[in-house]
Amino acid sequence: MQINIYKDHSTASFHAAEAIISTVENNPDSVLCLAAGDTPRLAYELMVKTALDQTISFARCTFIALDEWVGIEPNNEGSCSYFLNNLIFKPLSINTSQIYLFDSLSANLAEECKKMDETIIKKGGIDLMLAGVGMNGHIGFNEPGVSPHLYSHVINLDDTTRSVGQKYFKKSTALTQGITLGLKHVSNSKQLIMMATGSKKANVAKQALEEEVSIDMPAGIIQIHPQGIVMIDEEAAMFLKH
Ligand code: F6R
Repeated sequence: MQINIYKDHSTASFHAAEAIISTVENNPDSVLCLAAGDTPRLAYELMVKTALDQTISFARCTFIALDEWVGIEPNNEGSCSYFLNNLIFKPLSINTSQIYLFDSLSANLAEECKKMDETIIKKGGIDLMLAGVGMNGHIGFNEPGVSPHLYSHVINLDDTTRSVGQKYFKKSTALTQGITLGLKHVSNSKQLIMMATGSKKANVAKQALEEEVSIDMPAGIIQIHPQGIVMIDEEAAMFLKH
């Protein structure tokens, strides 16, 4: 694991955007799995701007969902689908045939998970996963205690995720379960970038990056990822020893 500490959120976002762009430049057929959430928002805006300014094409890329709130419609502004559509897919005119999102309204979520696992295999695996870290140490919706051996699965969200998740929604929303790629997908991704910015992530960053890897802190999996890069700002890194 490599840890890159940047001055602030903007600088970390700039480097995360550059990393996605360079992955796509090196391999226009890249399979990308990009988290939703506040942390990577600016990185995606910068990525889209660079792609449009420098005519870097994402037309051959595949986009794989990392996760979704179960039962939340894709046109709800708090959903991961809405976030990715508005920030990335629409501005880059990504064709729907390139996009694989979880249908979290499906009556058969197990089938959704199976389809996603099969898609990832068919596409040759994920080239780049860009993840955030939750206040409870989750990555995707891999909540504390989750098995590291799971592929896509449905999971009961813990109290922290249910309450922190309200920030994405205009009105109070019942969040009970998530559908997510599993830690197996996280560890199998060829490159893993984890972003953490702001002082509120300092405690969890310390635990994930410097404490023994354990199922209680799923984001800690980055410590043992052979191509894991942490992009963190000085505020989130303030409790790190190194
Ligand atoms: C969202 C996701 C989550 C978030 C995490 C941090 O697709 O996978 O794990 O990355 O909850 O969210 P923010 O960035 O809003 O602090």
